[in-house]
Amino acid sequence: MSDTIDKQPNTKQPDAAPAARPARGGALLGDEVFTRHGEGPPPRNLAEHAYFSVWDLHAYYGESYIVQGVSFQVREGEILALLGRNGAGKTSTLRAIARVDEPAVRHGEIWLDHKPLHAMKAHGAAQSGVGLVPEDRRIIQGLTVEENLQLAQIAPPVGWSIERIYDLFPRLGERRKQEGTTLSGGEQQMLAIGRALARDVKLLLLDEPYEGLAPVIVQEIERTLEEIKRLGMTTIIVEQNAIAALHLADRAIILDMGEIVFDGTAKEVLDNTELRQEYLAI
Ligand SMILES: Nc1ncnc2c1ncn2[C@@H]1O[C@H](COP(=O)(O)OP(=O)(O)O)[C@@H](O)[C@H]1O
Ligand SMILES: [Mg+2]
Repeated sequence: MSDTIDKQPNTKQPDAAPAARPARGGALLGDEVFTRHGEGPPPRNLAEHAYFSVWDLHAYYGESYIVQGVSFQVREGEILALLGRNGAGKTSTLRAIARVDEPAVRHGEIWLDHKPLHAMKAHGAAQSGVGLVPEDRRIIQGLTVEENLQLAQIAPPVGWSIERIYDLFPRLGERRKQEGTTLSGGEQQMLAIGRALARDVKLLLLDEPYEGLAPVIVQEIERTLEEIKRLGMTTIIVEQNAIAALHLADRAIILDMGEIVFDGTAKEVLDNTELRQEYLAI
């Protein structure tokens, strides 16, 4: 396919995609679509047939080689937990999927609902249904809760109505006239998720939604994510609170130093003490 990203940078890049390490426990990318025979990336021609798939993704910050040949897929309606230690490359992978400028994707393909995101910039990816809820939430200063949500709906395709978002997060409805940046951390997280849903999202990317929040607020957000799950939203969740993410997720992948070291069910990770201790320190 001619729209594969394979820019030749001025500087060094891997001549060939490095072979993925063998899986530890679970089946690495082992399902009916990406069946692996030996090592190396899965066949790219199958990547576009999954609902969401990343194929042999390599991404860089300047010359720093961070995402090192990542491949995985997500089925429609599935929740995937993307786990790994601090600095493993989780945020970078989400940012690459959302097609923000950094890290720069130099090789690989990203497909959502048969559309090639790798050929797009952030604006196109968002219009095609990628909803990134970044770690720092990015609530817009000087705007009320409601204005933050309205701003998300300024360009089509529009997703949930604002009233529906208030039904999911009643606290946001109560504070609709309050300036967004004056909300508590948990409420800002709700607003960030609400803002993603205000667009027509096909793939929700949550980067550490529980970070820095009190346990009672984490539970409240967990309940809304359960609700979003029931509605069939395809989601990738990155979380340091791996246990909470694994309880929500159907499947999990573990990143280590920019490579996938495990791909399997959430239950397999919960049941595998050795794997959790080695890569998640839990
Ligand atoms: N803007 C950046 N410029 C250079 N290196 C970065 C940048 N952001 C992250 N990194 C590096 O990329 C690696 C992966 O970071 P990140 O994707 O944020 O990891 P995680 O989200 O798993 O904690 C780390 O070594 C980090 O230092
Ligand atoms: Mg991160």
